Amino acid sequence: MDEEAQLSEQYSDINRIAIERHSQRLAIAFIVSGLFFMLLPGTFLGVWKLIDISREHTVSGLDPAWLQAHGQAQIFGWIGSFIIGIGFYSLTKMQGTKRFPVRMGWAAWILWTLGITSRWIGGTTGWHWRILLPLSAAVELVAFWLFGRSLRQRRTQGNSKPKEHWLKAVIVSTFGFLAVLVINLVILIHLAQTGDSPALPHALDQKMALLALWGMIVPTIFAFNARWLSLFAGLRQPNWVPFFTAYAFLVVALLTLFTQWRSISAIAFLFSALLAVDALHVWESAVQPAKLLHVHRSFPLFLRMTYIWLVISCILEMLAVPYDRSGGIWGASRHALTVGFIAGMVFAIGQRVLPAFCGMRVLWSTRLMFWSLLLLYLGCALRVIFEPLAYENYWNVAWRALPFSALIELAAVTLFALNIVVTLLLPPAHLRPQVSSVTAS
Ligand code: HEM
Repeated sequence: MDEEAQLSEQYSDINRIAIERHSQRLAIAFIVSGLFFMLLPGTFLGVWKLIDISREHTVSGLDPAWLQAHGQAQIFGWIGSFIIGIGFYSLTKMQGTKRFPVRMGWAAWILWTLGITSRWIGGTTGWHWRILLPLSAAVELVAFWLFGRSLRQRRTQGNSKPKEHWLKAVIVSTFGFLAVLVINLVILIHLAQTGDSPALPHALDQKMALLALWGMIVPTIFAFNARWLSLFAGLRQPNWVPFFTAYAFLVVALLTLFTQWRSISAIAFLFSALLAVDALHVWESAVQPAKLLHVHRSFPLFLRMTYIWLVISCILEMLAVPYDRSGGIWGASRHALTVGFIAGMVFAIGQRVLPAFCGMRVLWSTRLMFWSLLLLYLGCALRVIFEPLAYENYWNVAWRALPFSALIELAAVTLFALNIVVTLLLPPAHLRPQVSSVTAS
């Protein structure tokens, strides 16, 4: 090899390392801010409010702005930050081009974090909320646009190979995310002009929560699952026709959500979930061994169980349409979706992929991974069983179980955060003399 070729190869190696470092640092920033939103403005607030609700024996006495701030922190602050952080890391890396969009990435992180924080402060304190709320939604939208722009740039500069199906699903989900942010902005501008408090009216708020959960988070999970379930859990490759039909049912469900046909919407959500289960072969035997290095051996089981929560959530949603009177069945359905399916998925897959995405690290403790998932599912089961019984006044004793469910979930979330934070604080595996003994347990 001549000198020039050698130099060019060395340059491209240095460049590749620089790109890797930039994308890892950005992923870490999104993950750490996401963990913060999950813990304090999200879970801690949710636990506190559930204890208040259980003491009062009703949800109606609470300020809805606080509950909405909890939902916002979890959906956009936690899950939204994780989606964008993982997207920046994995998608820009996949395009395989020569520069990482450093400035755009950091600008997106600053704006996104600012937007979420100002929405939370405006909602909970009411401080200049008529300005702060629409501004927060606009800032979040600009942050997301920067994220989308850097992905698009990579695509046009990068290779021109035909896109894989799972990547098409990721693109569809990205448009879902964008649509949710645009609708959020329009609604908050309208609220600022016509409303008399920073809380959205109840019926609209419930629909917006469903729109964000099913229009932005669920499709993204389906898309990444299409890539990762076969890779990590050894499941068969997805069947693409039922897989994309699940997306079509999601669209039908979301469109009918805003009409009188709530039962059609609920049925369409259930069909979408069942089609995804079938297409991704979630409950079929694995065709190759799962990749269990550096994760707990129960990982595939917990992964499959998330889809049980998804189906339970849809069934409860169908029951909520005719029978819900005080928000108990609907609340249980939402909790099965948010904690059982979404948080369960993040705890399982997240502890598998995040250490690698954040600098080729190894998960600190596989034991903590197991306990975080077990406690999460236990807390979720208590909540999903007892919330309808208590809220709908079927069984008064059920009120006593709800604070326990909240505290168990708080413990689960804290263990998850602790495991990720210590993992990030420890040096990457290749810089350590030997991988910590806790990991091997
Ligand atoms: C981990 C423990 C959690 C606790 C203790 C908790 C608690 C609560 C409580 C008490 C409510 C009020 C409505 C009701 O009584 O059902 C609520 C609503 C809500 N939660 Fe959670 N939650 C938790 C996790 C999550 C997660 C992980 C998400 C999303 C990823 C989430 C999203 C929401 C949403 C969207 C609402 C509706 C807010 C609104 O009315 O606008 N929650 N939660």
